Amino acid sequence: MKVPLSKPFIDQEMKDRVLEVIDSGQYILGNQCRDFEKEFAQFIGVKHAVLTSSGTSAIFLCLKALGVKEGDGILVPSLTAFPTIEPIFHAGARPIFIDIDDTFTVDPNHIEAILKNRNQIAGVKEIKGMIPVHLYGHPANMDFLLDLAKRYSLFVLEDCCQAHGAKYKGARVGSMGIGGCFSFYPSKNLTVFGDGGILVTSDDEMAKTCRMLRDHGRREKYSHELVGYNLRFNEIQGAVGRLQLRRLDWFNESRRRIAQWYNDGLKGVPVTTPQAMDWAEAVYHLYVIQTFDRDKLAGFLKERGVQTGIHYPIPNHLQPAVQNALGQQPKLRKTEDTVKKILSLPIYPELEKEKVDFVCASIKEFFH
Ligand SMILES: Cc1ncc(COP(=O)(O)O)c(C=O)c1O
Repeated sequence: MKVPLSKPFIDQEMKDRVLEVIDSGQYILGNQCRDFEKEFAQFIGVKHAVLTSSGTSAIFLCLKALGVKEGDGILVPSLTAFPTIEPIFHAGARPIFIDIDDTFTVDPNHIEAILKNRNQIAGVKEIKGMIPVHLYGHPANMDFLLDLAKRYSLFVLEDCCQAHGAKYKGARVGSMGIGGCFSFYPSKNLTVFGDGGILVTSDDEMAKTCRMLRDHGRREKYSHELVGYNLRFNEIQGAVGRLQLRRLDWFNESRRRIAQWYNDGLKGVPVTTPQAMDWAEAVYHLYVIQTFDRDKLAGFLKERGVQTGIHYPIPNHLQPAVQNALGQQPKLRKTEDTVKKILSLPIYPELEKEKVDFVCASIKEFFH
């Protein structure tokens, strides 16, 4: 049996729609993109959505629109995809790396401790904001983070690239901070046929600036009010994204059901299964277990045709690019322990129970 780690959902309607867009002759930021933005904003519960070329560019545009610049410090978990961090550098600012809690998301207590000593961070004139990441599809502890942000006058930009549709106490992720950023990379909960991303906000000014920066700093064709970028989205992917959005609740229900199958199937097995907090409606972008025998278990599963992943083997504060730029970073105990143990098991909307049972049986066999 072959069990891939992830698989994008594609159906005939999506393929037909691609051909229709090709025939339409309109390819960049047209009607499909406009409607997708409206529908996505409505789904999240915010006023605006701005499509971008990727999740990375969505984060970058938000940081630029928020006025992030040299000397600014941005609080960010170290355990996240490297693209959460890159835009901070590109905006000229410095990441301040934060440890995680038991949900794998950023630890607000650590943020609070740093904020209490905020004048002692080398190279940082002022801490401007934080980027909590709803990692693996589980929302970060938003009330605590929003309270800290209010007390210390910081912005909160949510990295929702792994959490399309997830809810925190009933609110969709992306609707709680000043903005939220999503990726459509093919393994994500909502995908298109290539790269893509979207940012959401209810702040009119931020939406306007991001919209202009995305498209050469203009609103009118030949009037450039800002020096911007080309970080646009396109019509083919817009049409696919709209159809994906209509199926997103179903995808996420399916992912939650699969997570439950794993939770049940792995009872009594010496691995730690992911924790979901009471306030979270997680969407299981990844299903991540922990075991000290991680590498041997991954090898054993590979021999049986089960693909696994490690998200992520090197935390960002230990990445060479970061250390070259900023020097050695303070130790993050929980993050550094966790990356030795984490293993992502296959999960995607169409994954059959039979395959989940096979993965669980293989894990049991390994430990016996
Ligand atoms: C947490 C997180 N942030 C940011 C990104 C960047 O998204 P993209 O690959 O669309 O640029 C990703 C996806 O790779 C991600 O998982």
